[in-house]
Amino acid sequence: MKVLFLNGPNLNLLGTRQPEIYGKTTLLDIERMVRQRAVDLKVEIDFRQTNDEGELVDWIQGSKGTVNAIVLNAAAYTHTSVALRDAITAVELPVIEIHLSNIHAREPFRHRSLISGVCRGQIAGFGAQSYLLGLLAAVNLTTSS
Ligand code: DQA
Repeated sequence: MKVLFLNGPNLNLLGTRQPEIYGKTTLLDIERMVRQRAVDLKVEIDFRQTNDEGELVDWIQGSKGTVNAIVLNAAAYTHTSVALRDAITAVELPVIEIHLSNIHAREPFRHRSLISGVCRGQIAGFGAQSYLLGLLAAVNLTTSS
C-alpha cells in the first residue's frame, strides 16, 4: 500500500512561519514522523511540497494507478483552487484533506474549502498530528474498501 502526501504553498516554512498558529515543528520533522509511523503500518510513503498550484495538479493527475490514497494539505489553495478540486475529482482516488490549524476557527475566508466536497473527509486543527490522523484515515479507507 502506498500513500502520497502533498503539501502546498508556504508549508516549506513550517517551524518559523507563525509558530503560534502552526507550531514549531518543521515539515521535515513531520515527514519523519509520518515515515516512522508508516513503517509500523507497512505503508510506503511519498511526501512532497510545492509552492506551485500547477505542480500540485500535475502530481494529483500523475498519482492515478500509482498510489492507494492521497493526504493533501493544499494550504492557501484550499480556499481558492477550482483546478485542484477538478484534479481531485478526475483522479478517482480517495483524498483526505488535512490542515494543521482549525480553519473553521480562523478568518472567515478560511472557513470555505473548495476541495472538501470532493475529498473523503477533512482533518483540521491537530497540528502535526493532523498528518498522522490523515495517514490512519488513508489506511482505514484502503483496507476497508
Ligand atoms: C493550512 C491552513 C490554510 O488556511 C493556510 O493557508 C495554510 C495552512 C493549515 O495547515 O492549517 O497555509 O492549510
